[in-house]
Amino acid sequence: MLIIDWKVFNMSIKKIALAYSGGLDTSVAIRWLSESYGSKIVTVTVDVGQAEDFKAIGEKACNVGAENHYTVDAKEEFVRDYVFPSVKANGLYQGKYPISTALSRPLIARKLIEIAHREGCDAVAHGCTGKGNDQLRIEISCRALDPTMKILAPIRDWGMSRDQEIEYAMKHGIPVSRAAKKYSIDQNLWGRSIESGPLENPWNSPEDDGWEWTTSPELAPDCPTVVELEFKRGVPVGIDGEECSPLELVRRLNRIAGENGVGRIDHMEDRIVGIKSRETYECPAAVTILESHKDLEKLILNRHELSFKRLVDEQWTFMAYAGFWDDPLREELDAFINKANDRLDGRVKIKLYKGSMMVIGRESSNSVYDFKTATYDSSSTFDQSLSKGFVELWGLPTVVSRKVMSSR
Ligand code: ARG
Repeated sequence: MLIIDWKVFNMSIKKIALAYSGGLDTSVAIRWLSESYGSKIVTVTVDVGQAEDFKAIGEKACNVGAENHYTVDAKEEFVRDYVFPSVKANGLYQGKYPISTALSRPLIARKLIEIAHREGCDAVAHGCTGKGNDQLRIEISCRALDPTMKILAPIRDWGMSRDQEIEYAMKHGIPVSRAAKKYSIDQNLWGRSIESGPLENPWNSPEDDGWEWTTSPELAPDCPTVVELEFKRGVPVGIDGEECSPLELVRRLNRIAGENGVGRIDHMEDRIVGIKSRETYECPAAVTILESHKDLEKLILNRHELSFKRLVDEQWTFMAYAGFWDDPLREELDAFINKANDRLDGRVKIKLYKGSMMVIGRESSNSVYDFKTATYDSSSTFDQSLSKGFVELWGLPTVVSRKVMSSR
């Protein structure tokens, strides 16, 4: 039995642009939307590097009932305008998650709205459930880009259980894959998110069958791989002395770091809707680039810049995670972040070995490290006699407070 929300059902809609992944949910959505609203459906699949068979996805959409299908290659745009800004912001949500899924959503929203306009649609639709963060990211961005566009979330609204959905699909000749889905997966160039199934018990260790991009550290090569990453203005531009396009660079690092078992993440995450959830990710390039970038910042920025930038970075990452990519604050934070990254040219040397990634060297023409002041040898220009007064003044408030407290 279908439970239909009549408020939604009564809305008159002529044509809908649906963000389409090719999976069961959005395939059922094609049929369900056209049945529920009597409208035409145009499907949109945005290629952000999820390595799917896009031709087959388009064919499936049309077979299920889409009037037209678009595959949008947004890989370069994704890396340049979404991933690299997150590198400059050291984007790790709760210190662990490289916000890979999150970064793709405002871009998907953009493409969806663009095609909705081109096709003269009066609504867009997406396949997010009501339990995740993606509904926020897609809907807030769509609304920010075009407040007049109607937004439909069929999977959130239709009230079908998984079994009812499969029954609906079979009834309407929508292909259902035999293999029961063990995990919920989302992937793009910046990472692969693996959740649900056995991972819903936080005590269960991730099973081998969940990982695809990373070699198990136990099976990774016995010999470490050393890689040199070149940065210009805060973003990586080359590997091992060879210039690389953003897209090529991320791909290469996903492969190299992944082969060495680097990039597996397992953590307890706080979703914006209030759910505490256990999430795993594999993000070989992201982990490697983010750690290198942060290290280079420590070589080039002074301590005031560093401590303030950590606050800005955290707010920036929260904005991107929580659906506020199109909020003006994100751009205002970017202005600071870009300024702070202006001098971030240099090289970072990293060692990848059996699941670990370690920065083992860094250099920059803008380094504020000064050998002459830092060295312990006799050539040091640091005047230690100045420290005597400095120590006394630096500690003054503490010493005075203690004195007063002890005489009470
Ligand atoms: N928790 C992550 C986020 O909110 C990843 C979500 C991944 N989605 C999925 N269908 N597996 O960005």
